[in-house]
Amino acid sequence: MLLTLRVQGTRLCSSRRRLLATSAAEEAKKLTTTTPQQLEINGGTYATDSWTNVTPKILTHLGLNKHLQRDHPLAIIRKRIVNYFYGAYRNQRGNPLFSVYDQLSPVVTVQQNFDNLLIPSDHVSRQKSDCYYINRKHLLRAHTTAHQVELISGGLDNFLVVGEVYRRDEIDSTHYPVFHQADAVRLVTKDKLFERNPGLELFEETWTGSLADPKRILPSSKCMDQTKQPCHTLEAVKLMEHEMKHVLVGLTKDLFGPRIKYRWVDTYFPFTQPSWELEIYFKDNWLEVLGCGIMRHEILQQAGVHQSIGYAFGLGLERLAMILFDIPDIRLFWSNDSGFLSQFSEENLQNLPKYKAISHYPQCTNDLSFWLPSNVEVNAGFSPNDFYDLVRSVAGDVVEQISLVDKFKHPKTGKSSVCFRIVYRHMERTLTQAEVNEIHKHIADASVESFNVQIR
Ligand code: DAH
Repeated sequence: MLLTLRVQGTRLCSSRRRLLATSAAEEAKKLTTTTPQQLEINGGTYATDSWTNVTPKILTHLGLNKHLQRDHPLAIIRKRIVNYFYGAYRNQRGNPLFSVYDQLSPVVTVQQNFDNLLIPSDHVSRQKSDCYYINRKHLLRAHTTAHQVELISGGLDNFLVVGEVYRRDEIDSTHYPVFHQADAVRLVTKDKLFERNPGLELFEETWTGSLADPKRILPSSKCMDQTKQPCHTLEAVKLMEHEMKHVLVGLTKDLFGPRIKYRWVDTYFPFTQPSWELEIYFKDNWLEVLGCGIMRHEILQQAGVHQSIGYAFGLGLERLAMILFDIPDIRLFWSNDSGFLSQFSEENLQNLPKYKAISHYPQCTNDLSFWLPSNVEVNAGFSPNDFYDLVRSVAGDVVEQISLVDKFKHPKTGKSSVCFRIVYRHMERTLTQAEVNEIHKHIADASVESFNVQIR
């Protein structure tokens, strides 16, 4: 996984998740050395606990709002998506049907991010090693889908949510622990969906309509049927699917041009059934651009909506922007370098320029090997994601890539050893080997301190 090239986008699809375990003891140790008793975030005060793993470095991303920054490539992609939806759906008076929420706080509850979306309590995406938890109850949203239920409960039926999301991950040119997503929901009633076929129904006659016990989330094996959910009629699902796919292919062609090659792939998301991913053919590869599906009816019921059917989708903005502007490194989206920012403009949204590299500075590669404490192994007491976060906190953005290159267990002592390769490269200048050695030493010292390891 560490060596494959993926671009951050929509990744809640269960088949693609990694399993990364985290040791509670080691987390607790880190907490006692580095975490204050409470955290002030976005005007709220949160007591920390044994789940807290958000780092000060990550918290500096709150409020940066790159997707709202004038002339920023992410803001340009946001505008293209929003404008497409404004044009695709209008009400009788000719006004856009969709409303846009692009400034919602990324601090959400576990209920918003997972429970409301029927994500099973043992689903891998909830793991501490994958999310930035503020405490047991709160986290930095891992997807913009987290806002679905609150917005539907507030009476909305056509909306887009755009914002940054936070996921713990390895670091390379296509992964950064903070990236941006757009999510959308469209709900329709029977009268609207079957305007021309008034005899048809949204729900099966045999379906009782009772609210499923929200605590009793169906195991995923029970909601894998790609045809439909038990409550819906086939005609309602097929019409909705047709409209959704038509609109999303339209968006894809609007962004990538009318000749783009695409395909639909069946998939599974806990919050939709049936579910699909849309892939495009780009540079000899099929690349996932979005996830979507017919919303699980339990989600609408929870939000107080009983007489509608809905579709929803989510996509990653960085992935689209990297393709459309030819931007080679995800860290560039966080750059304040005028050499980068001055290349993009909202003046002409239809004509997107290709990014020209400012210059190429050399990489510096240093390895770091250490013995883990006795009885600790990779993913059993030591999570590589914890190490990645430590590196990011200590060294910041001069670290371009980190990979786990070697694992080894001593036959006599039984101790485990790991070797990480860290590639350093500054975006704006040449780093000297002496400078890199110093940063590398800081990382080694911090590793000893946090993980109780022994440098080799
Ligand atoms: N939240 C999903 C992710 O981050 C993407 C997604 C899939 C959003 C399907 C949706 C949806 O709203 O219906 O991977």
